[in-house]
Amino acid sequence: MARSTIYNKKQSRRNLTSRIALQALAILPLASSQHTSKRGLAYVGNTHVPDNTLLTSTNSHLSWYYNWSPYPSSQVPSENLEFIPLIHGVDDAELSQTSSAINGLPSSSTHLLTFNEPDGTTDSGGSSISPEDAARAYIDHIVPLRDGDEGRKWAISHPSTTGSPNGLDWLRRYNESCYEIDEENGCPTDFIAAHWYGAFDGLASWLGTLNEYYNTNTSRETPLKIWVTELALPQAEADATVSMMNQTLPYLDELDYVEKYSWFGAFRSGDANEWTGDGVALFDDDGGLTEAGALYMGGDANGFSAGQKGEGNAAAQLHVDRRMLLPLSLAAIYGSCW
Ligand SMILES: *[C@@H]1O[C@H](CO)[C@@H](O)[C@H](O)[C@H]1NC(C)=O
Ligand SMILES: *[C@@H]1O[C@H](CO)[C@@H](O)[C@H](O)[C@H]1NC(C)=O
Ligand SMILES: *[C@@H]1O[C@H](CO)[C@@H](O)[C@H](O)[C@H]1NC(C)=O
Repeated sequence: MARSTIYNKKQSRRNLTSRIALQALAILPLASSQHTSKRGLAYVGNTHVPDNTLLTSTNSHLSWYYNWSPYPSSQVPSENLEFIPLIHGVDDAELSQTSSAINGLPSSSTHLLTFNEPDGTTDSGGSSISPEDAARAYIDHIVPLRDGDEGRKWAISHPSTTGSPNGLDWLRRYNESCYEIDEENGCPTDFIAAHWYGAFDGLASWLGTLNEYYNTNTSRETPLKIWVTELALPQAEADATVSMMNQTLPYLDELDYVEKYSWFGAFRSGDANEWTGDGVALFDDDGGLTEAGALYMGGDANGFSAGQKGEGNAAAQLHVDRRMLLPLSLAAIYGSCW
């Protein structure tokens, strides 16, 4: 990855951040989602009220969302979509606010994602953590949330690496470090979080590798499920993107060992970062669903078509209260693709 690309990507993310109303600290009443769909939102924040109305409409094919942080987004009502918290890096894991925020979430939130792209650089949204440091922080700060030391037991994922060969190498070294620290338990996990940016065949192969690494090649009795929490075909034309998505969605829906997935991402083409390119966006710059957006929301069967806009005042931009921009939330906004 060229430096200039990384720089551009970071810049565009920063621009997006500055225009976004971030996470509300208020905890919304608990949700009882009827949805059983695997499909969710990788939500970087969207300043357009109508887009958010459409994304959270109850007839969509979506059932959950996350935003790379422990704090739900005020623009996404928790009655409609189950919120999945994420602990981005070691610094976040060490903060006492992190575990209190997580333990204060509605009881509809049951799963917790950890360390975002530890094998990736912070410039590209990764958390750049050595396998050794990650193992130590996981055992010290994450495992207690899993054990319910503070009263509530979370189902917890291992760190979500990039889909590059570094990812698997990192996971192997992480596992070794885990067993060096805790010879008996290592770093226990309940599910696996995977990222993929690329073509369909590569996705199928990466998921197969993870399944082999965690399930086929171990003596584990209950196979671990995989959540694909970042997924897109980067740098492609809209047609190629739609065709990749159209092949991918039914595949993931049917694949037993995949439990959840979320496409990157739920923004307008102009807000896409340079690295993924515009083709990944679910909305065009007028706030209409792209072909990919309509397909992702469930298409004709659920009442969504290309060009369709959400309701609400298009001119009403969400107000940004600077005091609400917690460092953690900022990290969360940077933490995304790779
Ligand atoms: C699983 O085990 C086989 C046989 O030992 C090995 O060749 C393969 O590389 C392993 N897969 C992974 C992902 O570690
Ligand atoms: C992690 O290492 C332990 C101990 O060496 C081993 O039993 C286990 O199979 C490894 N886990 C994975 C997922 O490779
Ligand atoms: C998706 O694939 C199906 C079956 O292969 C095809 O009938 C449908 O037209 C495709 N839809 C899009 C939006 O490409």
